[in-house]
Amino acid sequence: MSAQFKELEAAIAAVLAASDDYRTIIEGVRPHLRKLLAEEGLLPAELAEPHPDKYAQYLLYKPENEAFSVVAFVWGAGQVAPVHDHLIWGLVGVYRGAVVEKRYRRVDLGEAAEPRYEIREVGEVTARQGDISFVYPPDHDIHGVANPFGEPAITVHIYGTDIGKQPRHIHDVASGSARDVVTKHLNEVAIYG
Ligand SMILES: [Fe+2]
Repeated sequence: MSAQFKELEAAIAAVLAASDDYRTIIEGVRPHLRKLLAEEGLLPAELAEPHPDKYAQYLLYKPENEAFSVVAFVWGAGQVAPVHDHLIWGLVGVYRGAVVEKRYRRVDLGEAAEPRYEIREVGEVTARQGDISFVYPPDHDIHGVANPFGEPAITVHIYGTDIGKQPRHIHDVASGSARDVVTKHLNEVAIYG
């Protein structure tokens, strides 16, 4: 599998060299994520089992310059990620099972308003095995992900930085407030080096 990731590194480097427009990058990376989603055994069997309390986040690969990261999330039945942003481009592919993704947009209510922002829900999709969606700031960046189904799900994401180090936010939809967060990977060393 390491050879596939070296190939992926070269392919994404070419995409990043060609454009710095997030939407263009996403479309350039999409076929490479599609290929990864078709790989059997992408996640070692012992990591493919859900964590009992919380969704699990594993770093699969990142290049030395951290220009991107490939991360797997294992979602037990009923597990949820709170509404959050990424502040960088990213693609979200479903490897096994299905998840529900709710999309939000931050609406500025003006300097005099309290709270200053509203987090407005703008859509909901059920993403199934093989589906790929994407995020990028500022307007397509905030979402919540959940596995409301009876079976575990695994999603594989590619972000334009090491998302395990990225300072970002969890949003409270009801109040429009946000808190700073860094969501670390469960593994310190990438599964594929
Ligand atoms: Fe996300």
